[in-house]
Amino acid sequence: MNNIFRTVNLRKFYEQTKSFALQDLSLTVKKGEFVGIKGPSGSGKSTLLYILAGLLKPTSGEIYFKEQPFEGIKNKALYRRHNIGFVFQDFYLYPNFTVLENMLFPCMQRLFVPGSIIKNAERHLESLHMQDKRNARVESLSAGERQRACIARALLYEPECIFADEPTGNLDSQNAKNTLGLLKKLNDDYKTTILLVTHDEMISHYAHRIVHIIDGSLKKE
Ligand SMILES: Nc1ncnc2c1ncn2[C@@H]1O[C@H](COP(=O)(O)OP(=O)(O)OP(=O)(O)O)[C@@H](O)[C@H]1O
Ligand SMILES: [Mg+2]
Repeated sequence: MNNIFRTVNLRKFYEQTKSFALQDLSLTVKKGEFVGIKGPSGSGKSTLLYILAGLLKPTSGEIYFKEQPFEGIKNKALYRRHNIGFVFQDFYLYPNFTVLENMLFPCMQRLFVPGSIIKNAERHLESLHMQDKRNARVESLSAGERQRACIARALLYEPECIFADEPTGNLDSQNAKNTLGLLKKLNDDYKTTILLVTHDEMISHYAHRIVHIIDGSLKKE
């Protein structure tokens, strides 16, 4: 298997708190791996995903995407659209908009949304058993349905990687199982690389391996 992500001595210093959220974090993820990320609250898990998604800049250290230096990727929005589906810790859905509108939001700023994108969206909603919620406003959805809407949105461009930040944090155990099973299926069927932050013990049944982040560094196994 090839490396999809490799970080070397990654550090992130937050000016606001004058502290390091990541300290010399070196992690290699192979293409097609399903990696569970665990660690105490505040240990830097979300920060790591945000940096690898190009949403935050590291303070120092190296990042390689498919062994190419990350800083060589000038358009991070395009990089994200083609490679990363992000399931956020706090959903980040617009409550007054429908599920489909939320999925298409990034491309609704254009003059028209291509039919092929709408077809993709509908296909993903169907695979998540959400097709009948397509035109439901997000505020009317249950937590599990919101979670699935987030996953459907993350799948829109059929990304090579999915970053899921505590996707089961707001779910009951059945919905948590369904969500993890679904991500596992994507990993099995399409070899989608998955980085999943969770406190959920069930993750050990789904991920190929678990890494632990403590105080911004990987805990040695
Ligand atoms: N925008 C920010 N400005 C300043 N400090 C921040 C910011 N975001 C995160 N931090 C700090 O960085 C550290 C790591 O935060 P991060 O959100 O990555 O942790 P986490 O492991 O995802 O925690 P949780 O499990 O609670 O989600 C924390 O101490 C947090 O207070
Ligand atoms: Mg977090």
